[in-house]
Amino acid sequence: MSTFHDEVQALKAQYPVERSAVLPALRLAQERHEGWLPPEALVEVADALDLAPAQVEAVASFYDMFHLEPVGKHLVEVCTNLSCALVGAQKVLEAFEAELGVAPGETTEDGQMTLRAVECAGGCGWAVVVALDDRHRFNVKPEDVPVIVEELRNGN
Ligand code: FES
Repeated sequence: MSTFHDEVQALKAQYPVERSAVLPALRLAQERHEGWLPPEALVEVADALDLAPAQVEAVASFYDMFHLEPVGKHLVEVCTNLSCALVGAQKVLEAFEAELGVAPGETTEDGQMTLRAVECAGGCGWAVVVALDDRHRFNVKPEDVPVIVEELRNGN
């Protein structure tokens, strides 16, 4: 079985500039650390790419898809940027807050779901956009939220 270091070396080989592999290496590290990047994961990535941990942390802290704090088993990310805001993103976010019993940035007590408000999810024409783990739901309305949460709880 290949080690994390080996896998990062394979990623490096795909890029003309090796440090360009920092994004896929961070993604790989996050997958291996239950969906977030503890300090030791940043060190592993830095070591594998011959970078300083601070350089790796700077990249990880810039992008919304990397998490420097523990997250729940599922991520619920509501886009609250302009296009979504204009058609009710705040109401959708509030519906998730009510349904999950947490504020944005928090995780449910059972560790199942983390709610986040995020910047543009790239689907402005289908606002409001909600990312559920690696899938996206479009044209989400507040009244859709209980069903979405139920589906997530049931593993759908
Ligand atoms: S503003 Fe929400 S997807 Fe672009």
